[in-house]
Amino acid sequence: MADASIKCIPNGPYRVSGPATITDSQGQVVRTIEEGKAVSMCRCGGSTNKPYCDGTHSRIGFEAAEAAVRKAEGQP
Ligand code: FES
Repeated sequence: MADASIKCIPNGPYRVSGPATITDSQGQVVRTIEEGKAVSMCRCGGSTNKPYCDGTHSRIGFEAAEAAVRKAEGQP
């Protein structure tokens, strides 16, 4: 079985590839992503379909950090 992965799309969403489970703040499963499938999660804050991307990032000119920051030694 493959591991889940999260890819930062330049100036766009997080692309989450399964197998993975998305839960709400109460821990209730809201979506299961099967192996070989992926969903785009909003990181611009503008989607009307949160937590999923609806393409608003393109219309509002969202500019994301260019690269993910590597975790420093000793951080949890
Ligand atoms: S990242 Fe696409 S709508 Fe927010």
